[in-house]
Amino acid sequence: MSDKPEKFIDENGIRLDGRRVDEIRPMTVEMGVLSRADGSCYLEWGNNKVLAAVYGPRELHPRRLQRPGEALVRYRYNMAAFSVEDRIRPGPSRRSTEISKVSGEAFEPVVMKQFYPSAVIDVFAEVLQADAGTRTAAINAATLALVDAGIPMKGLVAACAVGKVDGQLVIDLNKPEDNYGDADLPIAMTEDGEITLLQMDGNLTVEEINKGVEMVKAGCEQIFAIQKAALLEKFGTAEEDEVLED
Ligand code: CDP
Repeated sequence: MSDKPEKFIDENGIRLDGRRVDEIRPMTVEMGVLSRADGSCYLEWGNNKVLAAVYGPRELHPRRLQRPGEALVRYRYNMAAFSVEDRIRPGPSRRSTEISKVSGEAFEPVVMKQFYPSAVIDVFAEVLQADAGTRTAAINAATLALVDAGIPMKGLVAACAVGKVDGQLVIDLNKPEDNYGDADLPIAMTEDGEITLLQMDGNLTVEEINKGVEMVKAGCEQIFAIQKAALLEKFGTAEEDEVLED
């Protein structure tokens, strides 16, 4: 692993990977990449490579897990053994269990579970290559996989982290910023700006958190635009959308 850099941000406000403090890494998405899944999305964000697959709504077994008034949404985040520098031991870990739980909850206000009582909707997020920010990358991919599966949703969910390096707030941390920075705050939100996931590693003041949330909001706006462009490409044109809205 590389050593801690002397400086994360140069005198011109440019980070080690050439970005400004409020700039996200380049993101590309491709929907419908898996033919056996009901919905899927492959997403690259910087050097992160993530595949999300959605299965369902389908009957839930064992039946005692069924919820009479709504579907159960299960989210499984997994890192492939080969996704990081040191091999990851296959199978669930404390980290992946925690990330799965909070990531599933990030979709709570948008997935219209009431339409599928007793059913299950399974979301699998597989990290193929990790380079900091995999839980947020997985959420961005999972949103599109859910839409691809035709799951009714009130809107999209986007996720991005904010952190602190050299005393400055930066969004979408890269690996050295994540490893050696002073704070890492992954956040997910709905299109209305409702925060559905917020975790924090390190220390930030209340003012820094408030400013960081605003920076993430701006980052998520960019992600929503990328997600919507992918949806338009797959499902229709802007003109058709306008007709639907009338
Ligand atoms: O990936 P994310 O930022 O959501 O989670 P993290 O726990 O803050 O991990 C940051 C990064 O550390 C990951 O993206 C991986 O690149 C790396 N990592 C690793 O190399 N080995 C692990 N067991 C876990 C994470």
